[in-house]
Amino acid sequence: MLSIVAELAIAIFMTMNNNGPMKTFDSIQILRPELATSYLALLTAQPGRPIALFAPRRVGKTYFLDGDLSPAAEKAGFLPVYADLWLNRTAPLDAINQALEEALDDVNVPHSVLGRMVKTPVRKVGVLGASLGLGRTPTRRDLPDKPELRMDTLIARLANDAGKPVLLMLDEIQALAHSAGGDAVIASIRAVLQKHKKKVFAVFTGSSQEALGEMMMSAGGPMYQFAQLLTFPFLEIEFLERLAAHFSEVHPRKRLDVVALQRVFEHIGFKPALMKDIVKEMSAEGQTDVRLALEKFMKDDRNVPAWQGVFDALQPLEQAVLVILAHGIAPMGKDTIMALSTIPAVNATLAKVRAALDRMRKAGILCNPPKVGYMIEDRLFRDYLATTYQPNYITNGKIGTLRRIQE
Ligand SMILES: Nc1ncnc2c1ncn2[C@@H]1O[C@H](COP(=O)(O)OP(=O)(O)O)[C@@H](O)[C@H]1O
Ligand SMILES: [Mg+2]
Repeated sequence: MLSIVAELAIAIFMTMNNNGPMKTFDSIQILRPELATSYLALLTAQPGRPIALFAPRRVGKTYFLDGDLSPAAEKAGFLPVYADLWLNRTAPLDAINQALEEALDDVNVPHSVLGRMVKTPVRKVGVLGASLGLGRTPTRRDLPDKPELRMDTLIARLANDAGKPVLLMLDEIQALAHSAGGDAVIASIRAVLQKHKKKVFAVFTGSSQEALGEMMMSAGGPMYQFAQLLTFPFLEIEFLERLAAHFSEVHPRKRLDVVALQRVFEHIGFKPALMKDIVKEMSAEGQTDVRLALEKFMKDDRNVPAWQGVFDALQPLEQAVLVILAHGIAPMGKDTIMALSTIPAVNATLAKVRAALDRMRKAGILCNPPKVGYMIEDRLFRDYLATTYQPNYITNGKIGTLRRIQE
């Protein structure tokens, strides 16, 4: 068996010897152009009706909008415009309008100053020809200040000036479900999209199935029967095959078991960046046992403080509820509430537990898929809690506290 140093030396040699751009695990990229084309076909088949792509956090939605959908849209004659509603959840319409305004600038303002000068007729030339007086730039009516009207005008102008329909991509639209005035924002978006159905097509993404579902299904809500809800697919085995292939390029005598990789990929919730981290770690050590690598990853001192930090920032009741969930116990069961109510620091009631669950759902720690009930969103965080804390109060049925399992 080779030492780690020798493995690394080979690894560095292999990467340096590669022709073209240096290949790394990080540069492995799965493109899905057919998926993009199929979404565009769906959109054009039903003008005025957006599609909403649902998938959990960090599985590749934004990456897809940027790397697959935007180029496919451009090729198909659309003008793609992207806005992140999660980052701007306090002012979502402003975020959309800013994205539209930037796109409008790009369409209208030639990229160099010289270009702009050439486009505008020259009115006067200085005596020595040194000062160029520019003609009046064509003026248009100002954009309305009211955000809803502004969006309406911007979409119309943008489609008109670009001479092509706009593909409006609104990332993490479920941010609107929890924001003040979110319903009114959705109503405006819906009205504008329907008014300009020949000029604008829209794709939404969402990370929270229940928030997205709530938005789409609540009768009377502005999103009701508006967008078509689709499940955004996880990366397939090709991704793992590419990781394994690169591993063997780096370690010519070693192979990764793709089926084992697949199991771990599923276990970590199909998150490609996380999977790359695990395989990079394996590669650095020349390790081929994926389960072992995952176990090690779970104890890694880069992960543990992050998980513990999230946990420590919570209130005692929330912590207790989280540990219960990590152990697969129903948080609102009668016995659970009774046991929790006996803990002095927690002092739970059904209403308090429900409120705690809801707070943690809004914070993105929990999810609440239909028919499944509350779950810890991050599988690895759940595993960490389950192996670190024991809900003694439940197991004894007596007064207890949250106790760390001794290592
Ligand atoms: N198709 C892909 N190929 C390679 N890596 C990907 C791919 N999709 C996602 N990733 C990796 O996963 C990370 C998270 O993806 P992202 O699109 O931000 O997730 P989401 O928007 O669903 O939360 C990216 O930064 C990238 O490193
Ligand atoms: Mg994203």
